[in-house]
Amino acid sequence: MSTIETKGLTAYYGDFQALFGVDIILRDGETTAIIGANGAGKSTVMKAITGLIKTSPEMVFIDGAPCGGREAHTAIASGIAMVPEGRRLFPSLTVEENLLLGAHCARKGPWTLERVYEVFPGLKERRRLSGTALSGGQQQMVAIGRALMSNPTSLLCDEISLGLAPVIIEDLYRNIAKLKEEGLSIVIVEQDLVRAVSVADRVYCLMEGRVSLEGRADEMSLAAIRNAYFGV
Ligand SMILES: Nc1ncnc2c1ncn2[C@@H]1O[C@H](COP(=O)(O)OP(=O)(O)OP(=O)(O)O)[C@@H](O)[C@H]1O
Ligand SMILES: [Mg+2]
Repeated sequence: MSTIETKGLTAYYGDFQALFGVDIILRDGETTAIIGANGAGKSTVMKAITGLIKTSPEMVFIDGAPCGGREAHTAIASGIAMVPEGRRLFPSLTVEENLLLGAHCARKGPWTLERVYEVFPGLKERRRLSGTALSGGQQQMVAIGRALMSNPTSLLCDEISLGLAPVIIEDLYRNIAKLKEEGLSIVIVEQDLVRAVSVADRVYCLMEGRVSLEGRADEMSLAAIRNAYFGV
């Protein structure tokens, strides 16, 4: 169990500043949506939390301990797993091999191949196929399953519904709801505002590298969110 916090988070790609003092709290057991237009900085926040981009230590805290800028592989040990934008499966590996990669350096916990196949039964029958021979929705489930194999307490999902058919998206989000019931903290980066607000306990909207709106999902009006999203 862990609470992740960014404090005054700034991030740069070379000379380009992508984040300007972002404060976000991801509370234990909650689902948090991070929304915002293309280029707002959503993926950059996720990368800063996992250590994929370097920040100073006091910009990211896990359970109160400063850990910004640490090596990305240590995120797994602190219970953070990321489902990256675009899924990033290995084409030369089977579904099962892709899943097993997620178990590399895993924490102890309930997630095993069998558990992943229970949650995503379609993957078991396809376990010997190449990961990228699957449909987009199934590939996304492999990417989520791979993240679960590390036994995380927090699952960071970057645009998991992108390019998928509505019925597949429904199915994905039903599974995300199941994971929340199991006690996982979940972060959803999503461009579909209505979807994001309906699954989340708490919402942060980013605009041009800054938080433009935050609050409990059930206390936010869609009008306020649209305003914070588009800046109109
Ligand atoms: N590797 C990179 N090199 C240079 N600039 C980058 C790099 N990655 C992101 N950026 C820039 O940083 C800003 C924030 O990007 P980021 O990927 O965090 O946005 P995002 O909200 O995830 O957008 P999207 O919805 O398109 O995924 C953008 O202006 C983007 O062009
Ligand atoms: Mg992104």
